[in-house]
Amino acid sequence: MGEGSKIRNGPLFSFYPPSPACGGGAGGLSVTVAAALAWAVPALIAAGVDTPRLDAQLLLTWTLKARREDLARDPARALTERERVIFQKAVALRTERRPLPYITGEAWFYGRPFKINRAVLIPRPETEDLAQAAGEKCQNEPAPRLADIGTGSGCLAVTLALERPDARVWATDLSADALKLARKNVARYGLGERVTLLHGDLTGPLPPDLGFHVIVSNPPYVTEAQLPALQPEVRDYEPTLALSGEPGAAGPDGTALHRRLLAEAPVHLTPGGWLLLEVGQGQAEIVAQAARDSGYAEVTVRQDMAGIGRIVLGQWQPE
Ligand SMILES: C[S@@+](CC[C@H](N)C(=O)[O-])C[C@H]1O[C@@H](n2cnc3c(N)ncnc32)[C@H](O)[C@@H]1O
Repeated sequence: MGEGSKIRNGPLFSFYPPSPACGGGAGGLSVTVAAALAWAVPALIAAGVDTPRLDAQLLLTWTLKARREDLARDPARALTERERVIFQKAVALRTERRPLPYITGEAWFYGRPFKINRAVLIPRPETEDLAQAAGEKCQNEPAPRLADIGTGSGCLAVTLALERPDARVWATDLSADALKLARKNVARYGLGERVTLLHGDLTGPLPPDLGFHVIVSNPPYVTEAQLPALQPEVRDYEPTLALSGEPGAAGPDGTALHRRLLAEAPVHLTPGGWLLLEVGQGQAEIVAQAARDSGYAEVTVRQDMAGIGRIVLGQWQPE
């Protein structure tokens, strides 16, 4: 159950006193959409939230089960007492810098909603390029076999399977809790027959001798030295196992798991199969060179929308 559902189903939070700005409270004046936003935005600004107005609107639309445009259309709409309490609690969590998806229990990836909880990384827009690139690399392959290493929420594995209805996908993760959530996302999209979730270290749990056409991974790549400087939303809430891996696993430059994947993937790839790795800022050339040194062909780097080298692609062509 996501954090959001806990709030929705939990007790009313009477210990959060109604804000005077809301003009409400049990038996008091009703709180309108406009008043709720007028109370929330300054609170989020004061907490240092980057996008206070947007976040207030998103939390309110989630609370009201509405769309964002409904807020502008009906600013005088009154919140019920239960809605006021849920919204106030959600805003309070956000002022503690809890990321929005860990409050609402949902995040969007490749145009689809995914269940999210604190066992998994919140899917990032950059990672959508990895899904896109994987689709391109198997577009001429009937019934491709794909693998996603470190699947987290399952966003990549599910997206690959939905974009290619003839594909089969195997996905691994070291975190049993992440896999529990990924299983829910797989079930949500009715993919139990085509997406297989496996517990273990990197490619270790993949069935041998399948011959994958594409292996994708967005492995942990934040060094332990970088962790303290991350923004609070990431540092204090996202799982360290997803950011950095097990202690020491990402290595001094954050590319140690990429190197392990470069070494492990060839036994699992079909001849001509591709390994696609997401990398952190400043890591692309290091990983690309490591791929060339490991014997991969056609090694290229794709940039993200900010012009940062983000995906390293290499083809395995045994001699
Ligand atoms: C950066 S997150 C990526 C999650 C998801 N694929 C995404 O892109 O949103 C890395 C994931 O790798 C998992 N992980 C960390 N170390 C691992 C290992 N040695 N073997 C398998 N999975 C690992 C973490 O639990 C986490 O779910």
